[in-house]
Amino acid sequence: MHLRTFIVGVSCIVILICIASDNVNGLNNGLVRTPPMGWMAWERFRCVTDCETFPDDCISEKLFMDMADRMAADGWRDAGYEYINIDDCWMAMERVNGSLVGDPKRFPHGIKYLADYIHSKGLKFGIYEDYGTKTCGGYPGSEGYESVDAKTFADWGVDYLKFDGCYSNATAKRAGYPLMGKALNATGRPIAYSCSWPAYLGGLPPKVNYTELEILCNLWRNYGDIQDSWSDVLDIVDWWGTNQDVLVAAAGPGHFNDPDMIIVGDYALSYDQSKVQFGMWAILAAPLFMSNDLRTISDEAKSILQNKYVIAINQDAAGIQGKRYINSNSKIQGWSRPLERGQFAVAILSTRTDGFPHKFTYTLSQLNITTSSHYMLYDVYDGQPAALHGVLDNITLYLNPNGIKMYFVAPTSLRRRHNEDMGIL
Ligand code: GLA
Repeated sequence: MHLRTFIVGVSCIVILICIASDNVNGLNNGLVRTPPMGWMAWERFRCVTDCETFPDDCISEKLFMDMADRMAADGWRDAGYEYINIDDCWMAMERVNGSLVGDPKRFPHGIKYLADYIHSKGLKFGIYEDYGTKTCGGYPGSEGYESVDAKTFADWGVDYLKFDGCYSNATAKRAGYPLMGKALNATGRPIAYSCSWPAYLGGLPPKVNYTELEILCNLWRNYGDIQDSWSDVLDIVDWWGTNQDVLVAAAGPGHFNDPDMIIVGDYALSYDQSKVQFGMWAILAAPLFMSNDLRTISDEAKSILQNKYVIAINQDAAGIQGKRYINSNSKIQGWSRPLERGQFAVAILSTRTDGFPHKFTYTLSQLNITTSSHYMLYDVYDGQPAALHGVLDNITLYLNPNGIKMYFVAPTSLRRRHNEDMGIL
């Protein structure tokens, strides 16, 4: 063998070993190929710890078991929702022999019991911790305990960790988020890893290195907390549109941006506004974590959240995040998201408040949809008959105030297969 061939061969082997070991150091769990779907306590149930006054709503094993029951019995699990996630305020205020434990009054059987119960319903179990000295709610943080806590979570059967960022500075976070990722990998249990890191750094470069995040985390909160508020939904959609070049580039199978929880079914949103949030989260390839009360949710909210076409758009295997192409000063936005096999999803959104349906005309080409000359458009919320359009055709629709129209857009060559896939016949 020539010396040169030998050297090239050896260096290739070294490089491969380096890449392999780097992967072992980074996130290497093969999870979250599509945005995760489930239920998360925080936005709706916060840090209510007074179970005497609020027996049904306090952060306790009862709450999560109730939600698991509803998820399994009311069609949520079958629609694709699989995680039940505890958020803050589940712990005892002190570690026991260095380990985290659930609050003994509110979780009397311990966290593993709850995890087992959730698993017995065919669901997955998520938990919350924080890289800092304390969680945002003031409970014990993981800083300095990464391996111990990762092992505790794996022993309990945790499937997902939301890792928050209160009570640590930027330098500590830079060390801590990779450290926890490594610790989770080292347990050998597949645990989806959600990092709140960028949300604490302003969400965008130069402070956030999204390329690094893609390797370290399965998803990450980029922006502030959603409250039960329509203006928050609009603010988030607008921030995602304004910063889409950075955000779209960072998203893909295994690594997604997270605009925070779904508030459909809570107090603030109207029927139309609820369709907007759910539809836009699908266009954004966002995690679909509902934070609502599944015991009392209205049929109207349920029908939106279980809309199989919107869910299919959200769960598209290509994992490409959508973009805003129209942002008119008449308060209409046009978004599109490329899907597998040359398909697209389209959302036309009105933020108008002038009281009657607004007439709007657009073309598919304005939304960057031009690969085929003609497409079939299926209205995913209102179930109108499918319509055939060329990419330059003017398409006119009427948008309710604070309303959305959403379409599955399939090239005509795919029409048959698409119909079968989507159950639209
Ligand atoms: C932060 C997070 C929220 C929630 C709370 C809990 O604010 O962004 O999603 O987890 O902490 O204290």
